[in-house]
Amino acid sequence: MLPITGYADRWSVRQGERIDFNISVLGGGRYKARVARVLCGDPNPKGPGYREVPATWAMEGEHEGEEQPIHLGSWVDVPGVVLPAGDIGFSATLWPTRLAAGQQAVLSFASTAGSLTLGVGPNGAYCRLVTPSGEQTLETGVKLTERAWYDIACDLTGGTLALHQSAHRPRLDRQESAACSAASTAMLGGAGAVAVAADRSTQVVRAHFNGKIERPTIIAGAQKVAAWDFSQQMGTDTAIDTGPNNYTGRCINLPTRAMTGSNWRGDVHRWTEDPAQYGAIHFHDDDMGDAGWHSSLGFTVPTDWISGVYALHLDKDGARDNIVFYVRAAVPGSQAKVAFLAPTFSYTVYSQYQKAGRQAMITERSRAWGALAQAPDGHPEYGVSPYNFHSDGSGVGMASMRRPLIDKRVNQIHLIDPSPDGSGLYWISADGYVTDLLTRKDIAFEVITDHDVHAEGAALLSQYNVVLTGQHPEYHTTETLDALATYLADGGRFIYLGGNGFYWKVVPHYEGPWSFELRRAEGGIRLWETLPGESYHAHDGSYGGLWRRLGRPPQQLVGVGFSTQGEYNSYPYSFIDGILNPRVAFMREGMEDLATPGAPLGERGLMGGAAAGHELDRADTLLGTPRHAIIVGRAVLTDPTFQPVNEERRDHTWPAKREDIIRSDLTFMETPNGGAVFSVGSMCFIGALPIDGYENVAARLITNVVRRFADPAPFPKPPPTDD
Ligand SMILES: [Fe+2]
Repeated sequence: MLPITGYADRWSVRQGERIDFNISVLGGGRYKARVARVLCGDPNPKGPGYREVPATWAMEGEHEGEEQPIHLGSWVDVPGVVLPAGDIGFSATLWPTRLAAGQQAVLSFASTAGSLTLGVGPNGAYCRLVTPSGEQTLETGVKLTERAWYDIACDLTGGTLALHQSAHRPRLDRQESAACSAASTAMLGGAGAVAVAADRSTQVVRAHFNGKIERPTIIAGAQKVAAWDFSQQMGTDTAIDTGPNNYTGRCINLPTRAMTGSNWRGDVHRWTEDPAQYGAIHFHDDDMGDAGWHSSLGFTVPTDWISGVYALHLDKDGARDNIVFYVRAAVPGSQAKVAFLAPTFSYTVYSQYQKAGRQAMITERSRAWGALAQAPDGHPEYGVSPYNFHSDGSGVGMASMRRPLIDKRVNQIHLIDPSPDGSGLYWISADGYVTDLLTRKDIAFEVITDHDVHAEGAALLSQYNVVLTGQHPEYHTTETLDALATYLADGGRFIYLGGNGFYWKVVPHYEGPWSFELRRAEGGIRLWETLPGESYHAHDGSYGGLWRRLGRPPQQLVGVGFSTQGEYNSYPYSFIDGILNPRVAFMREGMEDLATPGAPLGERGLMGGAAAGHELDRADTLLGTPRHAIIVGRAVLTDPTFQPVNEERRDHTWPAKREDIIRSDLTFMETPNGGAVFSVGSMCFIGALPIDGYENVAARLITNVVRRFADPAPFPKPPPTDD
């Protein structure tokens, strides 16, 4: 656990609205808190430096802290179960995935009189009966096979405890059973649990199950007590009991639903067509949903805090953390007609990206630079991200913002930059270059977030003449893409300052976008892929995967789309003939002699050493780039680490030429009704902005684009000759 950390209940808050911060102080004790508006998130002393403006805040000062626990692992909580006295039986069907982890509970009940647990472990199925006279455990002693289906059951009948285990066809393993005499007892009111041991007297659940469970059932003699059907309401956290007592359960920590069950035949891939084939939930011992911390500091944002990027800074005896939040104007567009759109969906999905070795890599430099020195691989206690595997080897498909997002901070680096003076940034710290540029160029702006666009749609975007992205706006809902498309169709202007944007679909939790579900279906650069039959989201039944595979390639929206990925190395762009097109004359203003075909831009940068790097996007009319789009500059990379993304490589002969795919295109296009888009198509581009005090060619180009795009004068329709 970090000495001090926390999370906010929201990413953005309007002036005059309340925000709550849930903070944990290890061991409790007093801590200091202050708020600042962040100008630049980069701690690199060879860059612009971490800079902020202190905010006047009534709660600034010392506060009494308390430790708030975090418990990984998903399960189903069923409080208030009453077992009748006498014979009792538990059963379930399961697909175990991590037997080496030890004994794992599948179905469990506990009361003050005792407990009964049915589970699996390294030696096959087991059951454990605890009564006032002692504890008895049975094991079949016959090992299970991971990722195969079994029925297991135990029953306590007439003073005998018996255990059964049998494999489903086509596996033809022996049926196994075990029995012993047991002291039967009456265990009346208590709590039931699926996928975890139910003894919660210590408030800590244990023995988390890894794998799929379906149809956990409790019987008493010939009577059904409870039978949970996970194929019902699988878009929610509710576990429906089809038995007579309505023992409805609640899923804790976001286990994955809409998973193929033991009866899945392969003929149905969309669970909504036959939910009965999707009666399984996949539980993991490292799932993390809502940490459930209570508010430590809650306040109403003063109306004189201008819209911007803010951080709550925490200090406990010299140990620090900061929690980033975005202050919006009380009335959108009232403060400025330029908006920075913080990619809070992507920040959330990327949170807790545990990359082995990063903590060790960044610690020394972070301390030397006065930056936060925390990395997710050094703090696995806060869970994993969809860029990780669960402990059982399955891909992580759920993301949550109701937990400390310890790598989404300001004044934080994420790797040792391969370039000598580079900063090694991603995400929030990197995106500070965009707001720093606007501030230094005296361009007034407001901030809004993906969460706001999801909730308020094109009506919000329409309050601004121009909207700018950050480095990596990768994850989008149908709602955010629709809002952006509508905004552009209505004459809005958009500057996409990143790479690999608008790429994957996410579906928010059914109660709202505090959590996201993603299905890594079909193609795409991805560390894991959805299993057969599991490409449809549980929350809304829609198909998941790449927006390109869903008929909405990024080129349709912003003119360019993901094409190549390589190491965190960057290279210069060159202007090409398009820069001389009179339609983009505004881009050359004040640097007509520098912005000419063949002249370089972005030769230096703080992210990988230049402007074109890491993940690059290209224009392609076949994928939706309008024919009238103008490419004003291009970088074609020869670095061998840069390879086509999966969806750009069809067989061993394609792509025939590197320059077809391994490139980034600086692309401009007018949109209907006087709007326009400018896209850079590189993850590292914004790292070139701060060079020479934001007075280099790349920074001046972007400044010219922002100024023209902020001007309400409509862009003329492109002449047909340019089409
Ligand atoms: Fe990405």
